[in-house]
Amino acid sequence: MILVTGGAGFIGANFVLDWIAQTGEPVVNLDKLSYAGNPENLDALHEDTRHTFVVGDIADRALISSLLERHQIRAIVHFAAESHVDRSIHGPGDFIHTNVVGTFHLLEAVHGYWMLLPPDRKESFRFLHVSTDEVYGSLRPGEPAFTELHRVEPNSPYSASKAASDHLVRAWHHTYGLPVLTTNCSNNYGPFQFPEKLIPLTIVNALAGKLLPIYGDGQQVRDWLYVIDHCRAIACVLQTGRLGETYNIGGWNEQTNLDIVHTICALLDELRPRADGKPYREQITHVADRPGHDRRYAIDARKIEAELGWKPAETFATGIRKTVQWYLDHPAWIEHVQSGAYREWMTQQYRPGVA
Ligand code: NAD
Ligand code: DAU
Repeated sequence: MILVTGGAGFIGANFVLDWIAQTGEPVVNLDKLSYAGNPENLDALHEDTRHTFVVGDIADRALISSLLERHQIRAIVHFAAESHVDRSIHGPGDFIHTNVVGTFHLLEAVHGYWMLLPPDRKESFRFLHVSTDEVYGSLRPGEPAFTELHRVEPNSPYSASKAASDHLVRAWHHTYGLPVLTTNCSNNYGPFQFPEKLIPLTIVNALAGKLLPIYGDGQQVRDWLYVIDHCRAIACVLQTGRLGETYNIGGWNEQTNLDIVHTICALLDELRPRADGKPYREQITHVADRPGHDRRYAIDARKIEAELGWKPAETFATGIRKTVQWYLDHPAWIEHVQSGAYREWMTQQYRPGVA
């Protein structure tokens, strides 16, 4: 059995659903259910005995220890994190609590459990830490994409907290021999992504007739990967990755934010035309830029391709079409995540005259 942390969030939920479908191996899913955690993402596993859902905090060492013991866990995939850059600018405290302190407590609990395993299980045990390309900082136009050897230069409270967690994981391997693997992935998109992030926000706002906010000039570049491709890459690293190594994961798909939003608008024009016949791109508006906004990320994914044979299956054209269609098909999911807390965040972040 494996333990997944943060498996009610966007990537974690996609991973749990895909892992059980692909391997049949049971999962214990530990999630605090922060505003970003949504048990509805796991509805397809309702009454499936291969999925055990536990509400709890990764910083609760006693809880983690008891779960590891009780379920005789053989591997951990650690997704749980505060993940939204804009929120980290408004309130970095939660990011330090979960991403840094939480990862520390998780590592300590896992270390204590792993030490006492019999030799064969100790050797095959794995701790996979899910991280981000943002730890590498920002690229200038024309600069080569991030390799695993790129200097670590985080620029936001979010990326700094993720870089700190990467360092902790590395240290627990070098000092204590904990069998860890780290992945650093580029921007994901797909089903179940919370509509505070660019792609789902654009789809949801467009359908609601609201403005589509572009920070600054919209020429910032991200490298987009369909979420199931990320999940398969994680499974591949978990099964065959070399201990102590870092693997970069990306889609070879650099696009400006403005291009992304135009693509979504064009898809919506085709799939759900506006009642007035006008194009959705008329809803685009340029708003104040994100403080310290990283200009460009791009992942060099040659290591995972060459060593482990992983490659993305989706192109951006196929992945974004599936994604837009998924949001069109799930109006109830959208309605349910737009809780009071969501509305409060939208008012704070996009208040008139500022953003
Ligand atoms: P998300 O915000 O959608 O989900 C995070 C989940 O973690 C939520 O279910 C939340 O309830 C849970 N959580 C938060 N604090 C917790 C705590 N203290 N204890 C237990 N659970 C807690 O995030 P996501 O986009 O799915 O990202 C998952 C991971 O992947 C994160 O580590 C993130 O840094 C990393 N990542 C994300 C992307 C991306 O594009 N979204 C890209 C690369 C890496
Ligand atoms: O690169 C990986 C990272 O990708 C992950 O580690 C993070 O968890 C994830 O949130 C994501 O971070 P970004 O900041 O790149 O994603 P976001 O969707 O917030 O923004 C994407 C780009 O779009 C970014 O340049 C900011 C811009 N943007 C975002 C929002 C929400 C806008 O222009 N307008 C918006 O309203």
